[in-house]
Amino acid sequence: MKIAIGCDHGGDNLRPSIAEYLQKLGHDVIEYLPKSGESTDYPQYGKMVAEDVVANKVDAGILICGTGVGISIAANKVKGIRAVVCSEPATARLSKQHNNTNILAFGGRIVGSVLAKEIVKAWLDAEFEGGRHARRISMIADMEEESLC
Ligand code: RB5
Repeated sequence: MKIAIGCDHGGDNLRPSIAEYLQKLGHDVIEYLPKSGESTDYPQYGKMVAEDVVANKVDAGILICGTGVGISIAANKVKGIRAVVCSEPATARLSKQHNNTNILAFGGRIVGSVLAKEIVKAWLDAEFEGGRHARRISMIADMEEESLC
């Protein structure tokens, strides 16, 4: 798979080990990151990765900020994005099986690198189950269409 990773300064501690892990699993990785030591703004990285995902330039996105919260909120503003923030593997797996999430986020100040890799693996290995879950995702897509924002 081709995977885009984006992070702000709060997530850059974890980014290198996650990128290396993905490459070891055989994935191609594109990275969007701040200059070394720069304090930066997470929305821009959420947007860059989200736009790559909806444009099908990549197959999936991974976002890391301090908590994973701000960068996932930003990504979810891009139409077609279903980003989840996870601190454990079970939610990551279920978010793919039930919600067909296309971006995974986590916090560089919340999870360590071993747990983050387990979260990534659970998410990448899981498959969308379709059926009733597809109907619910369509309802969310309808909400995007109806939104005045
Ligand atoms: C940056 O200090 C921090 O606020 C950011 O990385 C993130 O945690 C926001 O949700």
